[in-house]
Amino acid sequence: MLATTHPQSGMVATSRIHRVVTGNGGAAPSRGDTVELTVSHLTKRYGETLALSDASVTFKPGIHTILGENGSGKSTMLKILSGVVSPSEGTIALNGRAISPRTPHDMHELGLSTVFQEVLIAPHRTVVENIFLGYDGPLRRRIEKSARAPLAQALLAEISRFPIPLSAPAGELPLASQQLIVLARALVRLPSILLLDEATAALDYADRDLVFDAIENYAAAGNIVIFISHRLEEVRRLSDRVTVLRSGHIVETLERDGITAERLLKLMAPEAAIHA
Ligand SMILES: Nc1ncnc2c1ncn2[C@@H]1O[C@H](COP(=O)(O)OP(=O)(O)OP(=O)(O)O)[C@@H](O)[C@H]1O
Ligand SMILES: [Mg+2]
Repeated sequence: MLATTHPQSGMVATSRIHRVVTGNGGAAPSRGDTVELTVSHLTKRYGETLALSDASVTFKPGIHTILGENGSGKSTMLKILSGVVSPSEGTIALNGRAISPRTPHDMHELGLSTVFQEVLIAPHRTVVENIFLGYDGPLRRRIEKSARAPLAQALLAEISRFPIPLSAPAGELPLASQQLIVLARALVRLPSILLLDEATAALDYADRDLVFDAIENYAAAGNIVIFISHRLEEVRRLSDRVTVLRSGHIVETLERDGITAERLLKLMAPEAAIHA
């Protein structure tokens, strides 16, 4: 879905997540009206392994999926954009200005938040503490301790069908709940670019539906969502664009109208598609 613009103000409509966060004492970051992220000639080598090779693509508001078989370089691309690994070559530009992320903190400050493929939970901390992990940075983004639980609860209600016990140690909860907690951790920062690496893998169908609704709404409000998934039916439902990776190379970027399961399979693995 593309961003809908308010006819009078020219402003992009706010998302439900945005309203929940700001309505419960969370900070609304001030960023430009529109967001665009461009990677150019991005390459990552691990010794002999070419994890990503000469990847160039522009991300715009909406849901942009990165699709590819195991080991095709999807997570590598997201890790570079998250500041956890640095590229061997290539550049990244945010709204036309070159950025060189060195740490995840740098990227948060620029408005990028990531849910990684590995569920990164602090097992002995409570659900609320996990959601606000790393949130307190500079003075301008503080939220009272007493306001945290209500905000966490309101946010989780947007993405979880069942209440999640806020003061439980997160490590004692089922993996599906942990995945929703790390998603809430990314969302509470109201990123203009949300990166999701298999972020719904541990959820069952009904759980995923609510998350997808929230993500679609978030993207429609003018944010970029970069989405990685193996499931073709999800990819077809959600994607405004799909970039297909094969062995670290971008094979093609498809627009919504050109996205069919058959085409995606063929681009991902031409040999397998012929035999199917
Ligand atoms: N830290 C690392 N050290 C060495 N090789 C790595 C490292 N991280 C990734 N690779 C290799 O780089 C290639 C791309 O890996 P990447 O994790 O980006 O793939 P992926 O598309 O996310 O796969 P999956 O679908 O299994 O998550 C693979 O061959 C992988 O083995
Ligand atoms: Mg991966």
